[in-house]
Amino acid sequence: MSQAIAKKRLDYQAPNYLINEVDLVIELDPTDTIITSTLKCETSPHAISSNAGVASEQDLILDGEDLKLISVFLNGSAFTNYRIEEGKLVIPQAELAQLTDFTLQIKNSVDPINNGSLEGLYLSNEAYCTQCEAEGFRKITYFLDRPDVLSVYTVTIIAEKAAFPHVLSNGNLVEERDLADGKKLVKWHDPFKKPCYLFALVAGNFDKLSDSFTTMSGRQIQLELFVDKGKASQGHHALASLKKAMKWDEDVFGLEYDLDIYMVVAVDFFNMGAMENKGLNVFNSKFVLADSNTATDDDFFNIESIIGHEYFHNWTGNRVTCRDWFQLSLKEGLTVFRDQQFSADMFSYLATRISQVKVMREHQFAEDAGPMSHPIRPDEVIEMNNFYTVTVYDKGAEVIRMLHTLLTADGFRRGMDLYFERHDGQAVTCDDFVNAMQDANEVNLDHFKLWYSQSGTPRVKVESGLESGSKELNFTQRTNPTADQADKRALYLPIKVECLERSGRKIDLNLNNDTFVLDKANASVTVPSEDFVPVLLSDFSAPVILDYPYSLEDYLLIMTFSSSDYSKWDASQALYSSLISELYHNESVELSTSVWGKLEAALRQACNNYELLNEMLTIPSVESLTQGFEFSEPLKLSAARSAFLVQMQENLQDFLLEIMANTAQKSYEYTKVQVNERRVLSAVLQLLSYSKTPEMAAQLEKRFNSADNMTDKLTMLKASQICSVELFEKLMLSFESEYLENAVVMDKWFALHATTKSNDILSKLTLLASHRQFNLRNPNKVRSLVGSFAFYNTDGFHAIDGSGYQFLTDYLLELDPINPQIAARLVTPLIQYKKFAKSHQEMMVMQLKRLLNRANLSKDLYEKVSKSLTS
Ligand code: TRP
Ligand code: ZN
Repeated sequence: MSQAIAKKRLDYQAPNYLINEVDLVIELDPTDTIITSTLKCETSPHAISSNAGVASEQDLILDGEDLKLISVFLNGSAFTNYRIEEGKLVIPQAELAQLTDFTLQIKNSVDPINNGSLEGLYLSNEAYCTQCEAEGFRKITYFLDRPDVLSVYTVTIIAEKAAFPHVLSNGNLVEERDLADGKKLVKWHDPFKKPCYLFALVAGNFDKLSDSFTTMSGRQIQLELFVDKGKASQGHHALASLKKAMKWDEDVFGLEYDLDIYMVVAVDFFNMGAMENKGLNVFNSKFVLADSNTATDDDFFNIESIIGHEYFHNWTGNRVTCRDWFQLSLKEGLTVFRDQQFSADMFSYLATRISQVKVMREHQFAEDAGPMSHPIRPDEVIEMNNFYTVTVYDKGAEVIRMLHTLLTADGFRRGMDLYFERHDGQAVTCDDFVNAMQDANEVNLDHFKLWYSQSGTPRVKVESGLESGSKELNFTQRTNPTADQADKRALYLPIKVECLERSGRKIDLNLNNDTFVLDKANASVTVPSEDFVPVLLSDFSAPVILDYPYSLEDYLLIMTFSSSDYSKWDASQALYSSLISELYHNESVELSTSVWGKLEAALRQACNNYELLNEMLTIPSVESLTQGFEFSEPLKLSAARSAFLVQMQENLQDFLLEIMANTAQKSYEYTKVQVNERRVLSAVLQLLSYSKTPEMAAQLEKRFNSADNMTDKLTMLKASQICSVELFEKLMLSFESEYLENAVVMDKWFALHATTKSNDILSKLTLLASHRQFNLRNPNKVRSLVGSFAFYNTDGFHAIDGSGYQFLTDYLLELDPINPQIAARLVTPLIQYKKFAKSHQEMMVMQLKRLLNRANLSKDLYEKVSKSLTS
């Protein structure tokens, strides 16, 4: 595999040449789009050694992939002394020897309709669209495709006038006129220097929603949202969210938008959630389109957060960008943190924080424990697309959050201000960011920086010295070796601590902000009490696994008396996990009735707080439970979880019915109060469904038929999936006929089918893959059907005969040649085989070997699969 060579962070070298201006002329055609690229180049100061003359000492090597070269001109003259090496265009140094600056004109063509990778320029649903991050620009034209080459772009697009009413690129529209043969010419200019990964082009026939925003300095910004024809009414929430995000960034960080126009386009074919191209965001349509009939409360929440995320990138990512892709967390960790703060302010701190902690515990901890473990700033990469990970994004955001906790909101703001003052218009590193935080606050963050280079999840073991009468809490931290790194050091950890007396009274510990900083392997805190229960890691103040020998009574005490709603929720989850673990080890155990009575009492305390109650009524997923075991038997764990839910339903039935009776159906509005009521109802109905009675089924059917919104409909479908197979199938048929034409809604339908417990799940999946709304080339469909199955259908995927693993592998072999980026995302549950019992491991390894033996396996899959088999 000659192409699978790892790049190393420490091998970074500044570019030999700079490209200051880019002029692109793009003549759109489905199979033969012609790109003429005129580059104003300059020999970079870095390329000149001290005793040399003026010119570069190295060849100019322009990246290129799947391009057809037509011609090259150097300073206006036809030029033929180039070489093509592994797709790259090489201009020999000798040809540039006398030049400090020069103009290179390159003409090439690409084939958008046959581009299934959804990188570079592609044509789908009759619209042209580009995706250049991370290294997709090289699939459009020959270029220095690296984020530290910044240029001013002018883009001219020629397209058929009738088919493409909207032809867009970055920046400001400077010209639009008709040409002969029913074509037109549209020209855009972006005055801000940017790396090529932020370039974008979109051409299609859309509905347009317009609005405007007046910035804090009084400038009026035009806002435009483009969606598929007929869907304009589903764009209002996204547009309102955009205005909120613009205002929030001004209020909280003093950051104002810079161009005169901000455009967002929604497309159905997209590899990720959305992309922050300068002035022209491209979104997966599922993160734009929403109304009460088609979107759930969660969809409304996610849209606001992703609209915010991409908008916030304008400063954290675009104005200040990354020097190289190893620094990806510089923009992603920081921007995820910013979008979380935004969601907390707009919607709710507790719900936002809990959903984030679930991502960490279910997915990031698993990544750190598996073969792809890497620090938030990776050291070695084969395929960059494989490093858009929960580690870089979500653990990256946790690291920024710790800085925010340690420096306080004011100190953090001072650091941000200094960061922009120093680096606006530059491509920088994670160290540059931390240095700005450090210098603005006159603190030393050298030890803290270890978070950027050390992978793995630290375990913090806490013991109370009560047995030895010492009145102390002793902390020990340890990080196990990971697949990528053997030696680990003690990290700088802020741990929020509260101590409660048995009476529930809070004990004063004399800690700054209730936070104890553990900056070495061991340390302790004195507690002035004879008997206490510690409440640890409140707000998930550091991304660690906490280990303290709590009793059931301790959990119940915290659920009742902690001053933090977050900690009450966290204790409920730990309590459920320990009870499920009892059932895992002994199937026939009947949990003692006294537990249920006490649990009910604790839950009743939260009845005046539906936000907390709905979270406490949600039982940890199998995926998060799996993290608590060394070698889990997935089928046994799934059975133990179900057994727990059955007992919980039996013992808490009256209480649950009482809540159900107290929630009235209201006409749908996306407000915090209504969302929390719907969530409580959803949790209660799902729990009650474990009774599997005809009465419950009838109740669900009635509620499904009278629901006026997508949230409640989905609740009833999920509950019926638990309650009765016949009802589930019946409601799913009715849902299908109602939403058959709505691609985004049908994704939910595919996902529900894929997570059904059923002995013939594989034949169902095969049938669904031939459904007329299914399309192997559309990542949303693939994620809904195959992704939901592999990630969330424990019983099907981990079937005892290995058929689930085989099914996924067959599918990946088909997908890889079309869209390797998505294939590599879906292989994740398979490469994390080491969490599972031996018999499962063997069957999973067998499928991984099948993948590795495939000729022409993509770099994407090769990197993950080969690592999983060698580590
Ligand atoms: N930068 C995008 C974000 O906001 C991520 C992204 C979108 C992406 N599309 C992509 C990354 C395609 C790699 C490939 O997080
Ligand atoms: Zn991002």
